[in-house]
Amino acid sequence: MLFRSLVTVANMIIALIKAQTCAKRINEVFDTKPSIVETNSAPIEITADAQTPKIEFQNVSFAYDNNAKYAIKNLNLKIMPGETIGIIGGTGSGKSSIINLIPRFYDASQGAVFVDGVNVNNYSFHQLRSKIGLVPQKAVLFKGTLKENLRWRKQDASLEEMSKAVKISQSEEFVNELDGKYDYKVQAGGKNFSGGQRQRLTIARALVGDPEIVIMDDSASALDFATDAALRKAIKENVKSTVILVSQRAGTVRNADKIVVLENGNVVGIGKHKELLECCPVYKEIYDSQTK
Ligand SMILES: Nc1ncnc2c1ncn2[C@@H]1O[C@H](COP(=O)(O)OP(=O)(O)OP(=O)(O)O)[C@@H](O)[C@H]1O
Ligand SMILES: [Mg+2]
Repeated sequence: MLFRSLVTVANMIIALIKAQTCAKRINEVFDTKPSIVETNSAPIEITADAQTPKIEFQNVSFAYDNNAKYAIKNLNLKIMPGETIGIIGGTGSGKSSIINLIPRFYDASQGAVFVDGVNVNNYSFHQLRSKIGLVPQKAVLFKGTLKENLRWRKQDASLEEMSKAVKISQSEEFVNELDGKYDYKVQAGGKNFSGGQRQRLTIARALVGDPEIVIMDDSASALDFATDAALRKAIKENVKSTVILVSQRAGTVRNADKIVVLENGNVVGIGKHKELLECCPVYKEIYDSQTK
């Protein structure tokens, strides 16, 4: 009996020590201060007209805190309402870094980013981010029903809105075959879908609720060329928003109104496909390597 009690006491001591360490760690997480702070939580009035760029980068340079190297150097870019912009460049050239500055996932180290003529720092997170439908480079779905996943931007989206987005994103065919369609259970991370299906569903998710700006970060990388082309066609015909297409494939961006070519964080060319082929060696090299 005595021995048993001793074991209980020993176990209690172990549990206490574990709890203490866990509590310390949990408090550290609670005490973390976000590096991006919301300076204004009230909605602001926007007085943009057709001449105001939808998105504007003014002398933007950006480096990650843990990285001395600049990921973007001195970027100047105006994107007008309704335009489709392509951003192309090799791995690590700074494509994702640029688009992360628009919804304020990071703040520019120098210069400023404007949306509808207002510095992004002056918006509340809610107002700024509700303008944007973002398809992240890594396609992740959440555990829950398909419906819950698609209502990420707009919680009360109707079935019609969802099916329109699903149609544009070229997901209609496989969604219709799912058991229970929109009530189909998605596993954590979206593991019960293929890579390409997951990518298309994240595109549908970004389109629900008609965002003013659609950003797709390499969102067609897992799609075959025919589906990629059908997707771009559907977006062109049905989405009236300002669209930013990030890709490593020249084919994906070639019909954009303007293509921005990046190399090591520098813009080495801005223009249409034909112009760039003539005057931008980096673009020509990417294009030739993929077509010849
Ligand atoms: N979280 C981070 N912390 C530190 N450095 C980063 C971070 N994310 C990216 N970088 C660096 O910033 C540079 C640009 O990265 P970015 O992700 O913008 O490239 P990318 O053009 O999107 O590439 P990919 O085509 O592979 O997605 C790279 O040199 C990278 O090492
Ligand atoms: Mg990227």
